[in-house]
Amino acid sequence: MGNRTINVTKAVLPPYEEYIEAIKPLWDSHWLTNMGTYHKELEKELQAFLDVPELSLMVNGHLSLEMAIQSFGFPEGSEVITTPFTFISTTHAIVRNRLVPVFCDVKESDGTIDESKIEELITEKTVAIVPAHVYGHICNIEAIEEIAYKYGLKVIYDACHAFGIKYKGKGIGSYGDASVFSFHATKVYNTIEGGAVCCHDHKIYEKLYNLKNFGIRGEELVTDVGANAKMNEFCAIMGLCNLKHIDETLSNRAKIYAHYTERLKAIDGLKMFESNNNDATKNHAYLPVLIADGKRDAVYDALNHEDIHARKYFYPLTSDQACFKNKYRKCQLETARRLADSVLSLPLSAELPFEDVDRITKIIEGAV
Ligand SMILES: Cc1ncc(COP(=O)(O)O)c(C=O)c1O
Repeated sequence: MGNRTINVTKAVLPPYEEYIEAIKPLWDSHWLTNMGTYHKELEKELQAFLDVPELSLMVNGHLSLEMAIQSFGFPEGSEVITTPFTFISTTHAIVRNRLVPVFCDVKESDGTIDESKIEELITEKTVAIVPAHVYGHICNIEAIEEIAYKYGLKVIYDACHAFGIKYKGKGIGSYGDASVFSFHATKVYNTIEGGAVCCHDHKIYEKLYNLKNFGIRGEELVTDVGANAKMNEFCAIMGLCNLKHIDETLSNRAKIYAHYTERLKAIDGLKMFESNNNDATKNHAYLPVLIADGKRDAVYDALNHEDIHARKYFYPLTSDQACFKNKYRKCQLETARRLADSVLSLPLSAELPFEDVDRITKIIEGAV
């Protein structure tokens, strides 16, 4: 019998009967969207689970990022210091707000923004820092906060990879002026498509409400120019069901990650990121490995040949993508580029059998 296809991840679903039972009331109410019962319930449950002061539920992570940035009302053309070693959405969200991304290098150790290089990029036009907790690795929050305070900048974290992480005993979404999560199907936790913005300031929460709901504040009252980024009830119910199983999901991922680590340790020519931040819990969102000496693509091809689909997350850097290349200030991105050239995210999901991990690591061993 041939081997199965293995994708980079596999979406988590609750037991079928559980979801079907949970959506039944929608056939009575016919209330499918527009801040329904389940939207409200999920917003509350996620606020408690993520341990954040305010949480605004959204239709996806990208619009959450766009609206989080928009909610601060920065003047057009202002500069935002950000990481290029991330999913393209982070940079798009800045540019689609008519702001200018200024790309900062990242750290070799964990791929997060290099806090020691932020200050030299600040100009009189800088208004914000948008770092990413890439792969669930936590940025140097204290250093970033200190710089932001010194120069009066806002900090908006792309926390799309950091669902469920606690840092120094607090929900990771409670840091910065805002933090953004994605609940996309491929994430640790999903609502099919979905996202959220977490913040401290209730005025920002209110602004986000306007932005996601056309600025409508009454049957005959529109107070703000908003878009439509509301989560519908089917997605909210998926979120409520998946939240019931989140502990099991996270613990399965941890076991599979540990098994991978055992196998990968034995392979020469392959490195893993350092995970030495003892103040942060882990969600094992991704399994990125670093394969140097130009062998990354050979490993990727060898896996592909066996119908195993690893992904080059994150290559190319967002700053090197066709739509942004040579458009913005040239910054020194040596480390980010080296990581992008050597990184490969291996298949990982809450249901990946150990035998598949063994198969994957054996193929890697033969290709490095
Ligand atoms: C780092 C990062 N930022 C933003 C997003 C955008 O989230 P979404 O796909 O939910 O729109 C994603 C995920 O796709 C992501 O990985």
